[in-house]
Amino acid sequence: MKEINVAVTGAAGQIAYSLLPRLVSGETFGADVRVNLRLIEIPQVVDKLEGTIMELIDCGFKQTGSLLATADIREGVENTDWVLLVGSIPRGIVIDGKKIEERSDLLRINGGIFTSQGHAIGELAKDNAKILVVGNPANTNALIGKTKSNNSLQSWFAMTALDSNRAKAQLAQKANVEISSVTNMTIWGNHSPTMYPDPYNAKINGESAVQVINDLNWIENDYLPLVQQRGKAVIDARGASSAASAANAAIDTVKAVETETPKGDWFSAAIPSDGSYGVPEGLIFGFPLVSSGQGEIKIVQDIELNEFAQSKIKITSEELLSEKEAVKDLLD
Ligand SMILES: NC(=O)c1ccc[n+]([C@@H]2O[C@H](COP(=O)([O-])OP(=O)(O)OC[C@H]3O[C@@H](n4cnc5c(N)ncnc54)[C@H](O)[C@@H]3O)[C@@H](O)[C@H]2O)c1
Repeated sequence: MKEINVAVTGAAGQIAYSLLPRLVSGETFGADVRVNLRLIEIPQVVDKLEGTIMELIDCGFKQTGSLLATADIREGVENTDWVLLVGSIPRGIVIDGKKIEERSDLLRINGGIFTSQGHAIGELAKDNAKILVVGNPANTNALIGKTKSNNSLQSWFAMTALDSNRAKAQLAQKANVEISSVTNMTIWGNHSPTMYPDPYNAKINGESAVQVINDLNWIENDYLPLVQQRGKAVIDARGASSAASAANAAIDTVKAVETETPKGDWFSAAIPSDGSYGVPEGLIFGFPLVSSGQGEIKIVQDIELNEFAQSKIKITSEELLSEKEAVKDLLD
């Protein structure tokens, strides 16, 4: 069996609990690939991972390779093919007597984490490693991590697949079609409420979703806020942030990168901008992507963006520029 090494931070968290079994079950990397898993946590929590490891063993998947729990990021990411950066410090946590509520504080605290993780990945993960940032604020965390990795051979992604799945689900429900009929979804920009889940270029059975649904009022005033605010709605209803659906989206992203994109379709993730569509170069920005299945990822070009789309893309670009500004001293 072929072997690959995969590291996951935040391994004792909620998302990881849904994610880890699916990484070692054959579902994500294929039935003929053995997955060696490194579970990375903060020192206060790392002992709990012994229980997680017991459960993974008890799942009995033949694709499960070695299982290691560590609080040492360097040990965790050494010689890895994939690193899933799920761990981060959530809004509302109390640090040194201060409740962390502001996005700028959140950016700075997580920026520190992604600085050391980026260094370790750049130095120790494989040169063709792929890194998926799930922990929020995901795009700017990825910007910091990628900058600090100082290794242009590795590929960094921030996750927007959950937003894409949410957007497809809303369009499918409205049009009363199977979700598999909805293709070509792009989440432009930031994984935050400023994202633009593009309904004009998304297709339902090959036709523009906006034309099929034929209700511009619903698209602009219901669909967009529904998708943009879905994360908050789940928190309000569940008392905790999306976990099973976030883990599912992480699996979808890994599979989308690892396999050739079906002809005519594309997938959504945030990658460093090369200036396409006027997006400032270097920002980790949600784009429509295609994968060769052999490690090459390209931004789909020549997608038509009407004035409405351009105004939305401007808003999310400006938010990412202001996040970049807030952590600029971490990007030297
Ligand atoms: N991109 C997305 O679509 C998306 C969707 C849902 C959630 N999220 C984000 O994913 C993150 C994880 O969510 P969760 O529900 O699993 O949270 P959680 O609080 O249940 O788990 C997070 C875990 O990360 C660990 N952690 C913190 N700092 C770490 C570090 N430096 N190294 C290793 N581990 C560390 C914590 O100890 C904790 O166990 C959050 O930031 C959440 O906002 C992103």
